[in-house]
Amino acid sequence: MIGNKIYSFDKLDSTNEYIKKHLSKINNGDIIFAQKQTKGRGRHGNVWISPVGNLYFSFYLDKEMHRSQLFHYLMMSSIATINTLKKININAKIKYPNDIIIDKKKIAGILLESKGYKKIEYLIIGIGINVNQTEFKELEYNAISIKNIVNETINPKEILDFFIKSYNELENKQDIYKAYLENLDIYKKNIKYKDEIYKIYKIEQDGTLYIKNDKNTKLIDYNEVSFSDMYGK
Ligand code: BTN
Repeated sequence: MIGNKIYSFDKLDSTNEYIKKHLSKINNGDIIFAQKQTKGRGRHGNVWISPVGNLYFSFYLDKEMHRSQLFHYLMMSSIATINTLKKININAKIKYPNDIIIDKKKIAGILLESKGYKKIEYLIIGIGINVNQTEFKELEYNAISIKNIVNETINPKEILDFFIKSYNELENKQDIYKAYLENLDIYKKNIKYKDEIYKIYKIEQDGTLYIKNDKNTKLIDYNEVSFSDMYGK
């Protein structure tokens, strides 16, 4: 269960970073929320530009687990984000491993950070959802917000409440993997990986991706994958 306690800030460097720095006072399921971030982080060392108006939050899971179980929490977070958007009539899809997209444009991103190598001691899941931003400058063709779709200004905190509810509803559900696959946009489609075209043919429960083409079959860890172009027929 997440969201028993929510710590809210006008400004932070990064909500993920805040948890890392304050582990001694943060408990399992606590949420850190910020109106804006000055050093928002994305996957693969990218910057997550974080002006006021969008939703930025992280939650802490004080759970020991084997590394192979991490993907379960990415699936939970991805589906909870999809279900959050459904509550305001937005149909989004998951771009493997965990971008949330609408018509090829990104509306939300998820960053999972964990402590430990094989045996994980805890995890921090940070989520950014584009809520009220309507212009994305150089990201124009790759990003979209809730406001771009519904034409209304929404308080990011309201979206956070929907997320908490959606996430908690998924706890103890058996069919997370199935729901994840059903909500994927790219399953069985062509993707471009390191300048070659492949077809995704399998995603394991631990997130391992199998892709193949006439020449090669590849098995890729979800942490390593970053598609330059993921769409195709
Ligand atoms: C990605 O798609 O690259 C992941 C983006 C994750 C952004 C969120 S915003 C809240 C949390 N704090 C951060 O610094 N990053 C995550």
